[in-house]
Parts: sequence; structure tokens; C-alpha cells
Amino acid sequence: QKPRILVARAIFPEVIERLAQHFEVEANVHDDIWSPAEFAAHLRDKDGALTTGSERIDAALLAACPRLRIVANMAVGYNNFDLAAMDAGGVQGTNAPGVLTETTADFGFALLLATARRVTEGERYLRAGQWRRWSYDLLAGAEVHGSTLGIIGMGRIGQAIARGGAYGFGMRVIYHNRSRLAPEVEAECKANYVGKEELLRTADHVVLVLPYSPESHHTIGAPELALMKPTATLVNIARGGIVDDAALAEALRTRRIAAAGLDVFEGEPQVHPGLLEVPNVVLTPHIASATLPTRLAMAQLAADNLIAFFAGRGPLTPVNQPRPRSDTNG
Ligand code: GLV
Ligand code: GLV
Repeated sequence: QKPRILVARAIFPEVIERLAQHFEVEANVHDDIWSPAEFAAHLRDKDGALTTGSERIDAALLAACPRLRIVANMAVGYNNFDLAAMDAGGVQGTNAPGVLTETTADFGFALLLATARRVTEGERYLRAGQWRRWSYDLLAGAEVHGSTLGIIGMGRIGQAIARGGAYGFGMRVIYHNRSRLAPEVEAECKANYVGKEELLRTADHVVLVLPYSPESHHTIGAPELALMKPTATLVNIARGGIVDDAALAEALRTRRIAAAGLDVFEGEPQVHPGLLEVPNVVLTPHIASATLPTRLAMAQLAADNLIAFFAGRGPLTPVNQPRPRSDTNG
């Protein structure tokens, strides 16, 4: 009897075909929108799941799904996992790190450049027919090359952004992280460790790339925005909830900081109305890893985790070490 797998959202057909060589697969190929209760109903008789990072995996869900042994997220972030509940329930979680690093860092620069140089504001101005003539300060923005780049969260993606900033744009790179990097990694990234306050006070461009957790909730709120330079920009490609979006909307409205570029939002796909009202923000719908080669690599890594786990080889990219689940498979 093959293990039963639920693929919670529509993904690449070739990945579903590959999973079907190993498992009995139920896939949400029509990408139906499932409520948490519907998701639980589809998962009830499954041994494993491939999720996208939006599906909440908590104690109530695990109680409803006694066979479940593993959930493989097709995302590097896994704040949809209640790890304590998964540990206690004996359910393995895996994420998809590494394969999206450079692609996501590229998008960090897309947002940083668009924000600093007012690209989308300029396009709106042009499309609205407001462009009549040259003027010396028309849509003047902030320098990127040679400026100070402050990175909060120095994992793989943060390091890739540091290298891009230092080597590509000649930026002075400072970073803050829960733990300091090894000296040789700092040297390779040309990045200097500073405290969070110093980073906020001195950076011209602040990029957020830290994982979401209760500890990182509102890492940037009104007190932090108050420390930033009035000319500074803020980019969030990490997770909604790391920034207090209401406080940011207010800081943008009052020009407490110059501009922001946001790919993630509190309560997405809802966006704080205050952010939709201000001109000095670039808004994108959580697409930092969205190239087809990268999304395919993420889906394949999630599938690899499921295949390795059920073959008894252990997961490739585990995010927890659950105690074995008492076998209810019969
Ligand atoms: C996307 O946000 C991811 O975590 O991969
Ligand atoms: C993700 O790969 C990170 O560690 O930043």
C-alpha cells in the first residue's frame, strides 16, 4: 500500500506525475479555494502533504489527521507550521531553502531599485498623461550605488543581497541578525555587523529578509521608523507581520521615511488601505521567488522531501525533529 499524499494547491503537472510514481496522490489540480475545514477534510486520510506556505498546520488539524507524518512546504518560510504542535504530534515539517536564494535576492534589488528610483510612481505619472516637459527635480529619487545598505536577517538570501549590493552597486553593507556571521562569511559578503538601532539610524536602504516568528513580529514599527533617515527607503521581502503596516503607512504619508517597497503584507492578500493611498510605496503580490525555474525547483525539493521521508532515508531539509508518531496506519 503506497502512502497517500495530498497536494494542497495546483503545482507543476510533472511534479504531481513524479509524486504519483511513489504515492497515491490527491491533488487540488483545479486550485479550488479550500477553507481550513475543507483542507482538513482532504487531509484526513493522508500520510503526507505538499503545501505552499499558506496552509496552517496546527494541533487542531493534526488531531483531525491521525495518519499524517510529514508536511513538505514549497516555501523557504514555514511560519504556517505550529512547530510545537508538530513536534508533539510526531509530524515532520520540511521547507524549500537554497533553491530560491539568488532569485529572491534579485527581487530584493528589483524592489530596492524601483523604490529608490521611483519607477512605478514614474510609470503611473506617465500613463496618467501628466508628463509634459522636463524639470530638474522630476521624480528625483535616492542614490543606490555607493549608499549604505542595511540588511536585517542574514540567512542565505540576506547574504546574497549583501554580495549584490557590495559587488554590484559598490554599497557599504551593514547587517543585523540574531547571531553574528563567521568572520570569513562577513568578509566574503563585505558586510559589517551592527546593532539594530545603529543599522536603522545609518542605512540609506533597509532590506528585511528575516523569518517570521513571534519574536520578529513588528521588528519595524513606529519606534523603529522614527530612527530611520527621512531620506531612507525600506524593503520587505520577508513576511507580513515583520512590519507594522499601519505604522508604515503613516510614516510614508507623513514622509517620515522617503519610500517603501513591499512584497509581503499583514493579512495578505488583503493590503492595509493606508498603503494603497500613498504614492511613495511599490507594492507587489508576494512574488519574490516567482520565476518558473525557481518555483519548479522548490516544488521538486518538496517532492524530494516526501520521497526521501517515505523511503526511510530521512527528510532532506527538515525544520523540526519530531518524536516518532505512534503508528496509527494499521
Ligand atoms: C516565500 O515566501 C517563501 O517562503 O518561500
Ligand atoms: C533563506 O534561504 C534564508 O536563509 O534567507
